[in-house]
Amino acid sequence: MRAEVIIVGSGVAALSAALAAAPRRVLVLTPERLGLDGASHWAQGGIAAAIGEGDSPAQHAEDTLAAGAGYGDPARVAELTRAGPELIGWLQQLGARFDLDVHGRISLGREAAHGRARIVHARGDATGAEVMRALAQAVRAAAHIEVREGWRACGLLQSDSSVRGVLAADREGRRFALPAPAVILATGGIGQLFRYTTNPLHADGSGLAMAITVGAVLRDLEFVQFHPTALAVRGLDPAPLPLLTEALRGVGAILIDSNGRRFMASTAGAELAARDVVSRAVYRQLRLGPVYLDSRAAVGADFPQRFPAVFALAQAHGLDPRSEPLPVAPAVHYHMGGIAVDAAGRSSVDGLFAVGEVACSGVHGANRLASNSLLEGMAYGRAVGGYLAQIPRPIMPARLHVPVHQAAAPQDAAAALRLRHLLWDHAGIERTAAGLQIGMQRAQTIAEQATQGTQLAARAAVTMAILAAALARPNSLGAHCRSDADEAAAADALQRAGCSG
Ligand code: SIN
Repeated sequence: MRAEVIIVGSGVAALSAALAAAPRRVLVLTPERLGLDGASHWAQGGIAAAIGEGDSPAQHAEDTLAAGAGYGDPARVAELTRAGPELIGWLQQLGARFDLDVHGRISLGREAAHGRARIVHARGDATGAEVMRALAQAVRAAAHIEVREGWRACGLLQSDSSVRGVLAADREGRRFALPAPAVILATGGIGQLFRYTTNPLHADGSGLAMAITVGAVLRDLEFVQFHPTALAVRGLDPAPLPLLTEALRGVGAILIDSNGRRFMASTAGAELAARDVVSRAVYRQLRLGPVYLDSRAAVGADFPQRFPAVFALAQAHGLDPRSEPLPVAPAVHYHMGGIAVDAAGRSSVDGLFAVGEVACSGVHGANRLASNSLLEGMAYGRAVGGYLAQIPRPIMPARLHVPVHQAAAPQDAAAALRLRHLLWDHAGIERTAAGLQIGMQRAQTIAEQATQGTQLAARAAVTMAILAAALARPNSLGAHCRSDADEAAAADALQRAGCSG
């Protein structure tokens, strides 16, 4: 099949785009087995949608903007929250089965910073897996879509300043130039660029790296969301930390220190404050000793039925949330920044589109509201696909520029680990100008030693772009905490109040 649209990635955003792009011939490249792995498949939290009695897209929009520290784009947020109820209906038509209440209506859970219960779940904490099951089934049945499993993109083909295809590698590492008039990057997030993350191994910023090589505009890279309750277990490096869904706090699980003290009780919103607030509280508390998520009273014996995925993860580490609190620590979970896109998913480069976590549409502002990401992926995925289905197909040029791609050198894996550690240490939950500058120098040294066209060079470029964005924003906003600015502001306030010295 000669593709008219190539989609790199296979999460909810990618598959929604593929379905909506009919009758265009779509080629989906996925490093995984379709629908069986990746961040979308892992999503424990659900889909936020204003379908409850008394709820409205306007209220959902208000919560989204507030969680994003007022930095989100109100028009985009309004579009997103309006799309929620219809998307749930669409997924049900595709065969997704959501959890129901005793009256047979979709039951709605509560998560942090939502003013009301509006989170749709499937099989308790297996929402992502259920949505991916339904989408993957529809994709497999669609005649206009071809899926290549075990394939990954190594770079973008160009003609003049337009993107016109993908340089891809198959499972055996053989490379192929795949021309197409439109390429949609749906490669997910950047968690694997940091030492501690809940993200799968493929979430390594590869989409951002490809966008950098073709000069696409990126935005808001400094806004990295930390999830407050990753299971604090020792693992291999690199390896994701298991996630303990926020829905647990939504049903009343509490955060305690090693003396059993509930240290967030006096914070506004307590354990259900915005995610950046809870992450910082956990991070600061960890300096004093271990932190635990205690679900014994809130969930107790029902844990295996209500949260089967978390229960299995805890058991795999020899822990039982029915009878003991689980040790937690914050970890990188979601990237609000990304490739700047408009409402149709268009980047600043002709022929290049982006959707899902790799894109920055402006809806998440400086901090994403819980359970808005599956929603955004599907809403924008359908928008991009629908747009490409309608526009005239550009004429393909006779000659295309194929990017250089080099295999990794033996020392690259160790250098990639050094990048992960430095980004965590210097661009983590609390950042300072001095720390960010040290991180930048170290990343630059690694970048200079990396061979051009390798995965290491790509990782170093994205790492430096994140550090540069964090340096360029001197004040705290949402998930971007500049503790040096906060300390200076506090000292200044004290001085003005005559309390200094
Ligand atoms: C969670 O279940 O806590 C994660 C949900 C999300 O990131 O939206």
